This record gives sequence, C-alpha cells and structure tokens, in this order.
Amino acid sequence: MIVTDIVAKAGVNSFYKDVMTGLSSPHKYLQSKYFYDPAGDELFQEIMQSPEYYLTGCEEEIFVNQTKAIASLFLKRLAEFDILELGAGDATKSTHLLRYLSERRERITYYPVDISENIVRLLEAEIPQRIPGLQMSGLNGEYFDMIQECYQVSKRRKIVLFLGSNIGNFSIEEADRFLLMLNQQLAFGDIALIGFDLKKSPRQILAAYNDRLGVTKAFNLNLLRRINRELDGDFDITKFDHYPTYDPVSGTCKSFLISCEDQKVHVGEQCFNFYRNEPIWTELSQKYSEQEINKLALHCGFTPIANFYDSRHWFVDSVWEKIKISHFK
Ligand SMILES: C[S@@+](CC[C@H](N)C(=O)[O-])C[C@H]1O[C@@H](n2cnc3c(N)ncnc32)[C@H](O)[C@@H]1O
Repeated sequence: MIVTDIVAKAGVNSFYKDVMTGLSSPHKYLQSKYFYDPAGDELFQEIMQSPEYYLTGCEEEIFVNQTKAIASLFLKRLAEFDILELGAGDATKSTHLLRYLSERRERITYYPVDISENIVRLLEAEIPQRIPGLQMSGLNGEYFDMIQECYQVSKRRKIVLFLGSNIGNFSIEEADRFLLMLNQQLAFGDIALIGFDLKKSPRQILAAYNDRLGVTKAFNLNLLRRINRELDGDFDITKFDHYPTYDPVSGTCKSFLISCEDQKVHVGEQCFNFYRNEPIWTELSQKYSEQEINKLALHCGFTPIANFYDSRHWFVDSVWEKIKISHFK
C-alpha cells in the first residue's frame, strides 16, 4: 500500500502525519490520543477494572457518595445549563451525576466529546437506556474542535466535565494553555469540574501503570498494532517492552516502549531505525499537589469553589467557576 492510498483510504491524515513526526524526532514519541481505537478502548476498560489502577475506583467513589453535593452546587448556581464532557470514555462516573441532574432539570442536553468514534457510537446507544429522557448529542473529534461545535448548537450555560485525570495527559504548561483556551470559550459563571490525580506514594502510582496482568503493557503495545493496521506498519510487537517511570519531585509519570534490539521498522514507505534500548515516549500522566491545582485554576481565570475527595485523599474532583475579571494572569 503506498502512503497516499493509506491516507485516502482510512482518512487518517493527522494520525499518519503525527506518527511520522514523532518517529522522526531525535527522541521518538507517539501521541497518547492515538491509543483509543476499538481495541484500545476495550483494553482501557480492562485497565479501569484492574486492582492497581486506583484512579477509577477513587473517582467512582466520589461520584457514588457525593453526587448530591456536587449537583446541588450546580443547581444553586445555574438555572439552565447543558453538560459538555471532554474525553467521556464510557461515562460510567458521569452517569451518576447526569441521572441525578436530569431528574431535577428537564431541559439538559449532554454533549459527550471523544476522539474515539467507537466510544461515541457506544454512548449514543447506551446513554438513552441508562438515563431515559436525557437529551444527548455525541461529538466525535478533538477536544477543541468539538467544544466549538458544541457552542454552535448549545446556547445555554455550560458545565464542563473533564474526568478521569485526562488533564494529566498534558504537561502542566500544556494544561495551563488548554485551560486558558477553555476559559475563553466559557461565559462568566460557567463551571468546570476537573478530575486530578494527586501526588501520593510513588510505588502506588507506578503500580497503576504496570499492572501484574500486563493489561497496561498490552494497551501501550496496541499503539504499534494500530500503526501496523492503519498505516501499513511492520512493528514486531514482541521486540518492544513496556516501561513506566515516575518522578516524585515533578509528579510526572511517563510510559515508554523500549526497543529490545537494533531493528528497522517500516511505516508505509518510510523506514525508521531503532537501536537497542531506544525508548518511544507514549504517555504522560501528570500528578498534582493541591497547591498546583489552585495555582492552575487562578492562572487560567477560574475560582476554585469546591473540592470533592475520595476517602483516601488520592484523587480530587475540583470545581471551578469562570471569574469576572478579565486581567486574571
Ligand atoms: C483515560 S480515558 C478516560 C475516560 C473518562 N474520562 C473516564 O474518566 O473514565 C480518556 C478518554 O479521552 C479520549 N481522548 C483522549 N484524547 C482526546 C482528545 N485529544 N480529544 C478528545 N478525546 C480524547 C479517549 O478516547 C478516551 O475515551
């Protein structure tokens, strides 16, 4: 298959371009947003069930036990609103809140955004069954393109959900830029609820990205399989290893794929050389302190109005309101 065929056939222009850029870089990398093809979606569901991946359990606990308090905050502040969820995934946690809110406000529309077409299709099939009567409209694409699309159709106030520590896939500087841009889209008084994974025991964190059954490893390697499938690659999956790291000072957790030997890999017509032990950086999962979260909120034009923690204080869903001063930086 020649490259132009690949691009035209699968409509994978940006995937192809980003893979070429990442693998041509002096320090090879692949963007984590490409993990989520149907096989990646399924593996991520398995990761969420694994005992080591505490993030899901912590945030689920927050939504099971504190949905009423979270919802009351929203209902008190906004008379009419729609809910925009960024990177919704299977929306298990947000379902608790959506159900509670839709029983109390008739005219809410839920806009789940996800880059995975498969996920958006699943949500469009499942949400009406989980919460009969809730209006919804799935948005398949990148966060910012879909935020803009949502604003074209929804004129109500907004509550933006960004759960599961998705924000951790950005560096602190990228998160800052992302949240500043988000702030510019919102009206004064609109609300964002953002899930942050807190700094904690380094062993606990590292284990979450290195589960004993090897599901995270399979998830990481699936990115190479996806390149083989969609971009005519010939990665030999057995010749790459999964390697996570955590730096307790910066709070940066990174996952890599390590080339087990000197090898050549083709993607379409392009050939890439790998030396033994050469890393490909595939994922960032940034952990935060409470001070860092507050600083981020204020710098990006929000006031933190409430924090909802799990019982171990490992995870926080932080609720922010867009503030009225324009020179907040
Ligand atoms: C780690 S999962 C978390 C899902 C969900 N928020 C939760 O807490 O269970 C990340 C989700 O965000 C989506 N995603 C990742 N990068 C994205 C992007 N740039 N734009 C839109 N969706 C994205 C993925 O497809 C995936 O469903």
